Parts: sequence; structure tokens; C-alpha cells
Amino acid sequence: MSPSSESPGRAQAGLRPDVLVFATRATACEFVARRIREIVLRAARSRSRAVLGLATGRSPLHVYRRLCDFHREGLSFACVETFNLDEYWPIDPRHPASFHRYMREHLFDPIGIPRERAHMPDGAVPEEEIEAHCLEYERAIERSGGIDLQLLGIGANGHIGFNEPGSAPDSRTRKVLLHPGTLRDNQAAFGGTDRMPRAAITMGIGTILEARRIVVLALGEAKAQAVRAAVEGPVTPDVPASWLRRHPGVVWVLDRAAAGGLSRAG
Ligand code: GLP
Repeated sequence: MSPSSESPGRAQAGLRPDVLVFATRATACEFVARRIREIVLRAARSRSRAVLGLATGRSPLHVYRRLCDFHREGLSFACVETFNLDEYWPIDPRHPASFHRYMREHLFDPIGIPRERAHMPDGAVPEEEIEAHCLEYERAIERSGGIDLQLLGIGANGHIGFNEPGSAPDSRTRKVLLHPGTLRDNQAAFGGTDRMPRAAITMGIGTILEARRIVVLALGEAKAQAVRAAVEGPVTPDVPASWLRRHPGVVWVLDRAAAGGLSRAG
């Protein structure tokens, strides 16, 4: 079956070709999960490696659920190496709200990706070692041959990874301070902003833009403004996701609510 003939639910016509709008969250996530499956299958067939850049948050949860289903149905992830976008700092990897814990539970353990092939910024690294850790993270991406497909979400303030407003297009993996809006948006997992780390380690915008292909998954009305600003507004550090317009291989995968602010003319 060709990839297009098995596409779940057609994207709505009338928008730009790099903006796909699906009727529901589930169909949007299904589309992304199948894109990832294609890349994994292609790498397995050519006995090469698939390097995936992965995101956390609520948006990709259903994508990961579907990848776990595919694995149960026989898809092997033995040829896959992954790099996550970000992690809070400081945080213990066992903390229930850490991205390490999220990835282990929702993806890595169920599909059998061992730690050596699942790279994540380390939220427990001592402060004086952060710089070296970030450099080494960049080098590990390079050694892998580069990211084939980077999955991104978008923050309500337009952040990607934890590249908050003000982030430069050539920024690399580094420690960043979290924006007050981000603390608010993500506090539920910690039971309040006062219990949250104030910083994070994130791939930079420059790091993200080096991925060969990028899929941005944005779901729900809360993302409509940020999507509109990133896709149709000026390219500016105020909206970090707008830097994605400098990349030729970006696809925006939206549900109707997240696409609600876009002009139909496209
Ligand atoms: C988080 C992450 C981002 C994620 C975004 C949206 O803070 N650092 O990588 O894309 O915010 O998350 P959600 O999908 O939960 O809305």
C-alpha cells in the first residue's frame, strides 16, 4: 500500500501544501505516526539507521501510542536512534514530570529502545558541566549522521523545544530559563509553578533547523494564535517557531482548532 493511499483522513484543501489540516486530533496523530513508520521501514529495508528527533508534551502522546501499536503488530525499532528536544533542569530523571520518565513510559520501554540509542539532554547534570554536556549532545547528533525527521510541538507562546521568545536562529543546545507563560502552561504536571524547575536544557533553533525534515504537530484552539503567528506572521525571534520558515522541509500537521487562525487563501 502506498503511503498516500493509506493516509488517514484527507487534509483539508485550500491551505498551503506544507500545512495539513485534519478533522480530528486522532487523524492528525495517525498521519504523523505513519510518516514515522515509513521512515523506520525505509531504514530497515536499506539496512541503514533512522534518526528521529522527538518531542514531549500532550500533543505527541497519541503518536507514541500508535507507534507502540505498530510495534506490537511487528514493526521493529532496532534500526532507530533518537534524540529528544529538551529536558527540565534541574530534575531527577525519575521525577514523574521529567521528560525522561515520559519518554521511557510512553515510548522507549514499550518499543524496546535501549538507553544507548535514546539520547536526551540530562536534567541532572551539575551546573558546571552543562556546557560540556550540551556540546557533547550536538556531537552525538552529528555522529549519528543527523536527524532524519524532527517531531516538534509548539508552545502557546510560539516556543519550539524550550526555545523561548528571543531565541536566535543559530542557537545551539544550551541551558535556558523558562518563560513565565511556559511555567504556567506546564505547571499541572508538577502541582504548581512553585514546584517547577525554572530552567531547561534544549536543542537550539540552529540544531533543529539542521534536521532533514521537520513535522510540527499542533492540536487544539490554545495553539491557534501561535500557529498563525509562526506560519503567516513575520519571521522574528519573538515567535521562535517562525524560524521554521527558513527550512524547506517543514510540514505543519494541525487539527481544525489549531488551524482556526489561518487565512484560507494560503
Ligand atoms: C513543552 C515542550 C515543547 C512542547 C510544548 C507543547 O513545554 N518543551 O517541546 O512542544 O511545550 O506542549 P503540549 O503538546 O503539551 O501543548
